[in-house]
Amino acid sequence: MHQVVAERPGDLMVFRPRRVELPIGLAVSGMVLRSLFRVLLWCIRHPRRCALIVLWPVLWSLAQRTGVLVALALFLVGGAVWRWKHRASWWRFYGGPLLGWWRRQVIYRRAWNEAMSLCGLAKIHNAEVKLPRLVKVQCDEALDRLTVRMIRGQNPADFHRATVNLAYAFGRRQARVFSEHPDDPPTRHGRLAPVLRCVDRVRFRDRPTLVYVVLVRTDALRKIVPPLPVPHVPDFTALALGVREDMRPYRLHLLATHVLIGGATRRGKGSVLWSLVRSLAGGVSSGLVRLWVIDPKGGMEFAMGRPLFARFAYKSFEAMADLLDEAVEVLKARQDRLGGHVRVHSPSVEDPLIVVVIDEMAALTAYLQDAALRKRIANSLGLLLSQGAGVGVLVVAALQDPRKDILPFRNLFPTRIALGLTEESEVDMVLGDGARDRGAIADQMPRWAKGVGYVILDGTPEPVRVRFSYITDDDIVDMAQRYPAPADPADMLAQITRELAPEPDPVAQMAPAISEQTSRDHRPLLPKALADVLKRFETPGPRTAGNGEADESGAAENKGVAGEPS
Ligand SMILES: Nc1ncnc2c1ncn2[C@@H]1O[C@H](COP(=O)(O)OP(=O)(O)OP(=O)(O)O)[C@@H](O)[C@H]1O
Ligand SMILES: [Mg+2]
Repeated sequence: MHQVVAERPGDLMVFRPRRVELPIGLAVSGMVLRSLFRVLLWCIRHPRRCALIVLWPVLWSLAQRTGVLVALALFLVGGAVWRWKHRASWWRFYGGPLLGWWRRQVIYRRAWNEAMSLCGLAKIHNAEVKLPRLVKVQCDEALDRLTVRMIRGQNPADFHRATVNLAYAFGRRQARVFSEHPDDPPTRHGRLAPVLRCVDRVRFRDRPTLVYVVLVRTDALRKIVPPLPVPHVPDFTALALGVREDMRPYRLHLLATHVLIGGATRRGKGSVLWSLVRSLAGGVSSGLVRLWVIDPKGGMEFAMGRPLFARFAYKSFEAMADLLDEAVEVLKARQDRLGGHVRVHSPSVEDPLIVVVIDEMAALTAYLQDAALRKRIANSLGLLLSQGAGVGVLVVAALQDPRKDILPFRNLFPTRIALGLTEESEVDMVLGDGARDRGAIADQMPRWAKGVGYVILDGTPEPVRVRFSYITDDDIVDMAQRYPAPADPADMLAQITRELAPEPDPVAQMAPAISEQTSRDHRPLLPKALADVLKRFETPGPRTAGNGEADESGAAENKGVAGEPS
């Protein structure tokens, strides 16, 4: 309802909302009711604080100072016993909330305004500084989770871009930004389950105005992760390979996907591959999984685990190409058999999951000199990567250099893992565009972080840091003894023909490509003219059998130098 204020013709028409005069009693009772409603809401949201506020005056009135001291002592001793007996629930209900409250007051509130404006997350509107608001701080054993209300005109991508700066602004090295609640609602059981599910629906509802900043307070990945237990029957949707930075196990979904592991040399690609082999070992011995392994390093990485593998090629590139061709044949046969019946193959002993494991994939796709062989390998790999996932012929490959000219099929790997890399741009090449901005700083991996990498979990764009279990040589030998692959005549036949074939030296086959690359990378440190002068003054070494020619020429050169006018 509006009131027309202008009366004379020619006046500006002004519309003013009609004021309703309320009786004072009604207005006051309305305000009181509103405040009571807010208090009630606060009590529901903060039951622990509410209980404390009620408890202290009651205690004081009953037993004054002694009562309060006894309660305090009980609280502390009870907390210590609780932590000793059940650490996980202690962190969830006791230590976590207390630490969260403390860190909110002491760390985050004090630095909040400065951090927000220096990280570029503050804005000015009508000469007023607008800052994102810190809503909640939750702590667990390893992480601080900050719930932040964005200001108008912001979206989670603004926070994603500032991820690394946010971490350092609060004195941490690692941070992640989640646009949705980082946790899934818990599964509820029992009689109260329907009520709790309703509460969860409210707690975990989608809130587009909030963003969740997770800071790594205690780096749980500094400790080496020992080999994990081998499941008797592997769950292909959740193979435990290591530990996440939030201290939960990292589980890989291996059904209908290919996996690419990118990492610079000596960063632990081997431990990712062996952790995967270990998680599948139970299925290997029961025949549910067949491992076809290609090791272009002449067997240096995988030869120790030979009994685990149904097929193994490590001697010649011909043999490796044959192995890939055979995988393509299996793929075609399965397509003919399964087409029209199922859309995704489910592994069984009769029709096992075939996992083609390739270490140093670049040796097959880029460094191999024989162009015809390289093309043959590229064709097979292209087919396997584009059509193999659905029929249970999967590729798991490791490589050092993720550039397109080294690995043209990068985008055909749906699951990717980035270990320590050398350049910023390589992070996005392995994990996908924008991964580094969202906190996957794989190019800044410290020296101790062997076997530590970033992964993208199913359905979330945010990367998660993981440490893979470290499998020693003894563990490999033990695994090979306990979980050998069942003998299969087809595998044996393929292997015999492969091993009887002439064996060109794989290193020699790669040598021209590698030497060309190294000669490009390792230019002389001294200018050529200076190096030549220094060479002339070199004293000739003692004459030994077999290098007479070299010594003679050295002596002749020296003579020449001595005869030259200075
Ligand atoms: N998960 C791990 N935990 C602790 N240390 C590890 C882990 N993985 C690897 N390392 C250490 O890093 C070293 C290199 O590991 P690995 O051989 O697996 O690396 P790589 O990336 O395969 O190297 P290359 O490129 O030479 O094949 C190992 O000798 C080991 O000492
Ligand atoms: Mg290796």
